[in-house]
Amino acid sequence: MRHALFLMRRITVIGVGYVGLVTGACFADLGNRVICLDVIPEKIEKLKRGEMPIYEPGLEEMVQRNYAAGRLSFTIDYAEAIPNAEYIFVAVGTPSGVDGEADLKYIRNAVENIAAHLDSYAIIVNRSTVPVGTGDSTAQTLIERGKKQGIDFQVVSNPEFTREGSAMYDFLNPDRVVLGSVDPDAAEAVADLYRVFTKNILITDLRTAEMIKYASNAFLAMKISFINEIASICEKLGADVKMVATGMGQDQRIGAAFLHAGLGFGGSCFPKDVKALMYMAEVNGLHPQLLRAVMDINRDQRRRMILHLRDLLGTLRGKTIGLLGLAFKPNTDDIREAAAIDLAHMLANEGANLRAYDPVAMDNAQRLLDGVRFCNDAYEVAAGADAVILVTEWNEFKQLDMPRLFESMRRKIFLDGRNVYEPSEMRAHGFEYRGIGRPLNGGTVEHARHAEEAVLARAG
Ligand SMILES: NC(=O)c1ccc[n+]([C@@H]2O[C@H](COP(=O)([O-])OP(=O)(O)OC[C@H]3O[C@@H](n4cnc5c(N)ncnc54)[C@H](O)[C@@H]3O)[C@@H](O)[C@H]2O)c1
Repeated sequence: MRHALFLMRRITVIGVGYVGLVTGACFADLGNRVICLDVIPEKIEKLKRGEMPIYEPGLEEMVQRNYAAGRLSFTIDYAEAIPNAEYIFVAVGTPSGVDGEADLKYIRNAVENIAAHLDSYAIIVNRSTVPVGTGDSTAQTLIERGKKQGIDFQVVSNPEFTREGSAMYDFLNPDRVVLGSVDPDAAEAVADLYRVFTKNILITDLRTAEMIKYASNAFLAMKISFINEIASICEKLGADVKMVATGMGQDQRIGAAFLHAGLGFGGSCFPKDVKALMYMAEVNGLHPQLLRAVMDINRDQRRRMILHLRDLLGTLRGKTIGLLGLAFKPNTDDIREAAAIDLAHMLANEGANLRAYDPVAMDNAQRLLDGVRFCNDAYEVAAGADAVILVTEWNEFKQLDMPRLFESMRRKIFLDGRNVYEPSEMRAHGFEYRGIGRPLNGGTVEHARHAEEAVLARAG
């Protein structure tokens, strides 16, 4: 029996974003001593006041509790965070560079600072998503540097698979933990931290661990683009993609997850990771055609909404369009690569007047979007609007008071970008309703348009 599981460990986490803060809070909650470091002083000050720099369900309570208990602390000072740390988790951003490659400037800066302040053996655990080979080169740099200082380092890759919006749950209940290292003892030492959560720990080499992350994200993105392509075909042929996905998903070889047709994927991971994987393939002389198609379909998916609106409204100039939801998915305030942001830019280019509401992502969106009227709820968005688009499937948009919404709108167009509602019910309310891959009345979109026109004509 391993006793290492139950020992208090000294852990440092670099970066207090969506990944780092969850990692730090969850390890502290187990009884470990955790210091979280970030280069942005405002984020650290906020955390010390008990305020969260990001929204993640359950995070605030866990951070406050562990901070109060003295197990979790925050700093901007590497000299405070690094000496004596047994494990140093790196969770800084790796955004897309100009050609889609992962930009490693934050990683390099973090590694430099770690190396400059380490005073004893430590395991550097990389949780950021980094190009295959980064762990090897980081390990080499650190080990060489350590030798000169007489200090031993080890590097372990520990890709992150949690989902924003349920990151705490996912961290505490992982499907698997992947660890990659050239040093089996270092990997085992990191495995000890996780055994309390799962026995399913896969230990491999650095490059393979890094690739597992990219391959997993690319596969999930591919599933989304696949069902979105099927949705487009369904629209033309009069089939219902929701039932198609249900029928497909019940096949255990396929699985139901990530088969929801919608406005395409967004967020800080899928788009940038697919692009980074494409880049890695291309610079190695390969033609990653499937990955390219995944990205193309995703881009087109946003445009489809504009085409529906043009189809129904003609020109969008001067029309009032409401966006329900701004976050890239529910239960997060993250708007990176969000469909709503793309749609807002496209609609503004068409000359539409925009309104929007999101339960938690408004502050972030306001920093990015000009000329949008931000509202207090879905009903304010809809009042006097020509069309509303349900962009993010927040729970509070799932049971809207449809008669109230209908009454307040100027033109009664409801575009359901996440297929939350049943087409027949929405038509019964009187809406001109379009989902994704969901024909109305069992016909194609063209049939639907004729049916809608007939309803409008009857209504005078
Ligand atoms: N967000 C997710 O759900 C998720 C899931 C899996 C993997 N990842 C990967 O994890 C990494 C982090 O993602 P995130 O969403 O948490 O990013 P984030 O942008 O939310 O947070 C990164 C944090 O690192 C800080 N930082 C940057 N340089 C630093 C430095 N040199 N020293 C200390 N702090 C520094 C930033 O100020 C920021 O607070 C990325 O590589 C991402 O691809 C993210």
